[in-house]
Amino acid sequence: MSVLVTGGAGYIGSHTAVELLNQGRDIVIIDDFSNSKPEVLENIRKITGKDFKFYQIDYSDRKALENVFEENNIDSVINFAGFKAVGESTKKPIEYYINNVSGALVLFDTMRKYNVKKFVFSSSATVYGEKNPIPYVETMETGKASSPYGSTKVFIEQILEDIYKSDNEWDIALLRYFNPIGSHESGLLGEEPQGIPNNLMPYIVRVACGQLKELSVFGGDYDTPDGTCIRDYIHVVDLAKGHIKALEKLEKERSGIFTYNLGTGVGYSVLDVVKTFEKSTGQKVAYKIADRRAGDLPAFYANATKAKEELGWIPEKTLEDMCRDSWHYIEMRSKS
Ligand code: UD1
Repeated sequence: MSVLVTGGAGYIGSHTAVELLNQGRDIVIIDDFSNSKPEVLENIRKITGKDFKFYQIDYSDRKALENVFEENNIDSVINFAGFKAVGESTKKPIEYYINNVSGALVLFDTMRKYNVKKFVFSSSATVYGEKNPIPYVETMETGKASSPYGSTKVFIEQILEDIYKSDNEWDIALLRYFNPIGSHESGLLGEEPQGIPNNLMPYIVRVACGQLKELSVFGGDYDTPDGTCIRDYIHVVDLAKGHIKALEKLEKERSGIFTYNLGTGVGYSVLDVVKTFEKSTGQKVAYKIADRRAGDLPAFYANATKAKEELGWIPEKTLEDMCRDSWHYIEMRSKS
């Protein structure tokens, strides 16, 4: 029995693949390398000492996907395939809806055809929209995400709810990520955005290594203790372990559709992250306070109780760990 990991060469997919292999599971990875590189697969093998099957395909290519289900004994699917750049999604909504939503539908249809009904979905805290109070709780109403990227997450969650209502044999976990940062401690896996990064940690590491001049802190006048935005940063390895816990729940209990926040429940400001990065790595991060970025919320973080109580998932890594590991990855890259 194998777990199919779509987008398994990507940032979160690759870290989850490592945890699955470490658990002794068989996995099959598919990825089209649209936002990842083949060497990631070698690094997954290096870290785990284990091998797996890989197909370079687009998950929305029905024929190629069916072939993967034909050739393997797939029992469950964890889906990381999809576009994820918030800013880009506002310029290319059609591409985002086609790839993320239509692609997911091809995947669900194929799963149904092969009677594979255990599914873990990478959703996002962005589904809570702009109106909910913090901390976010799973029972809150979702919708009205601030970008097409966010809307694709809202829509796919809705589609999965409908699939489950139509057929209770499905077992589905919707995992709402907060802000994943950090890297595998080996320094062999990490986040590698193409071009100038939009997200905070990828930008910070590039300033620290001299590739970019300074960080623009988007807004210094928010109603927060230091005036900068607050987010719930979660180490990508903790996040990956959350997928394992969710999959185990689906396997043990076979009992429905579940939603979990994957965050620490603790909020840190942009300046907290900058200062912690400097302290834990010894690297200076030049920054200036700039204008607010359109669409940013002043603060959000998770109520992380449900995942703790129901899955026994407790994030272990600190903000120091997240900063140090993000930096370690960049240091290793610059040496290789
Ligand atoms: C966004 C998405 C989230 C997605 C995440 C990672 C929304 C509402 N959120 O989160 O779904 O999972 O990206 O892809 O769509 N910042 C700076 N300077 C920078 C970059 C960021 O000050 O150069 C600040 C931002 O204003 C924000 C914080 O850092 O307060 C985190 O930003 P970012 O890493 O982009 O993530 P989010 O926007 O929180």
